[in-house]
Amino acid sequence: MGGERPYVLRQTRDGRDSRAPSMKVLVTGHHGYIGSVTAPMLLEAGHEVTGLDTFFYEGCDFLEDAVDFPTLRMDIRDVTTELLEAFDAIVHLAALSNDPLGELDEELTREINLRGTVELARKAKEAGVQRFVFASSCSMYGASGTEELMTEDAPLRPLTAYAESKVRAEEALSGLADGDFAPVFMRNATAYGASPRVRFDVVLNNLAAWAFTTGKVLIMSDGTPWRPLVHVRDIAAAAEAALVAPVERVANQAFNVGANSENHRVRDLADIVSETFPDCEIEYAEGAGPDPRSYRVDFSKLAETLPDATPTWTARAGARELLDAFRSVGLTSSGFDLYTRLSRLKTLVADGSLDDELRWQHAHERA
Ligand SMILES: NC(=O)c1ccc[n+]([C@@H]2O[C@H](COP(=O)([O-])OP(=O)(O)OC[C@H]3O[C@@H](n4cnc5c(N)ncnc54)[C@H](O)[C@@H]3O)[C@@H](O)[C@H]2O)c1
Repeated sequence: MGGERPYVLRQTRDGRDSRAPSMKVLVTGHHGYIGSVTAPMLLEAGHEVTGLDTFFYEGCDFLEDAVDFPTLRMDIRDVTTELLEAFDAIVHLAALSNDPLGELDEELTREINLRGTVELARKAKEAGVQRFVFASSCSMYGASGTEELMTEDAPLRPLTAYAESKVRAEEALSGLADGDFAPVFMRNATAYGASPRVRFDVVLNNLAAWAFTTGKVLIMSDGTPWRPLVHVRDIAAAAEAALVAPVERVANQAFNVGANSENHRVRDLADIVSETFPDCEIEYAEGAGPDPRSYRVDFSKLAETLPDATPTWTARAGARELLDAFRSVGLTSSGFDLYTRLSRLKTLVADGSLDDELRWQHAHERA
C-alpha cells in the first residue's frame, strides 16, 4: 500500500552508497546558532523540515539564511499533541542555551529546558513521533577534577542550572523510552564556527571576536580549563546521523559529540586565535582566576557507532573560517551585544518586549 517511502541517498565516509528514509522532521530552535545550520543541512539531505521557534534572536543575523522552509512562530511550552502528529521525528534544540544564560533565571531554565523538553517529548510520544533527538551538552561533566577523558558513563557533575537541566531532561526522557519512542541524547561539546545566528558567548568565537575587533585575545579565566570543542556543522551532521541510524543502534543512548583531538585548554585556543588573526596579542581579564568548569571528553562511542558523524573540523580551521566571515561582514564591536544571548534577552526583558517568563508581550506586532 502507498508504494515505497521516499528516501535520502548519501555516500558514507568510506565511499559506499547508503539509503535512509526521508523523514518529516520538526526542528525546534531552528532559528538559533545550531538550528540555523542544522535545518538547512537536513533539508539538503532530503528530509521534509519544519522549524519551530519563538524568535528571541530575530534581527540578530550574522549571515543570511540560505534557504526557506516552513516555520512556526511558537513557544515550545504551547505545542500541542495534534500539532506533532504531522512529524516522524523531532530534533529538539530550543532552549535557554549555555551556562551564562542559565544564570538569567534558574527557574526559567528549569521551566524551558527541563519541563518544556519533557512535555514536548511526552506529547510527541502521544502523537506517534518515533525519534526524538535531544541537544544535550558535555557541560554536564562539569568539574571532572581529572585529566581523564569522560565517557558517556562518567559521573555527571553539573555545576550550573543549565547543565543540571540537561542532566534531568536526559533522565526524564529516558523514562519515556520504549519500543515506540526513541530519544537520543547528543551531548554536544562547546560549539564554534560561523552560522547565520553566530554567538560570541562560546569560547572560540569569543576569543576570535575580541581579536578581530580590539586586537586583544581576552581570556576570562586563567586559561588552564579544558574544554572540548565542536563545529556547528559537525553538530548538525551528528544530529542527522542519529536521526537516520537504525533505531536499535541509538535508542535511549547518550553520545558525546566531538572528537578526542579537539579537547583544548582555553590558553591553547587563545594561541590558535593569536596565530590566525593578524596583529593581536593575548591578554588576561583583570582578576581572571581558575574556572571550575574543566573537563576532557572521550568521543570514541560516536566514532564507533555513527562513523559518518565523526567531526571533520578543527578549532584551527574554525578560527580561519571566523576570520574570513568577520572580514566579509565587516564585524565591529557592536556585534558583541547582538550575538551574546544574555545581553539580548536582558534587553528584551528590560524594554518590555518579553515578560518575566520570556513570553512576548505584543504578539500582534510580531505576527
Ligand atoms: N552552542 C553550544 O555550544 C551548545 C553546546 C552543547 C549543547 N547545546 C544545545 O544545543 C541547542 C541549541 O543551542 P544553540 O547554541 O543553537 O542555542 P541558541 O540560543 O542560539 O538557539 C536556541 C533557539 O531556541 C529558541 N528558543 C528558546 N526558548 C524557546 C522556547 N521556549 N520556545 C521556542 N523556541 C525557543 C531561541 O529563540 C533560539 O532561536 C540547545 O539545546 C543547547 O543547550 C549548545
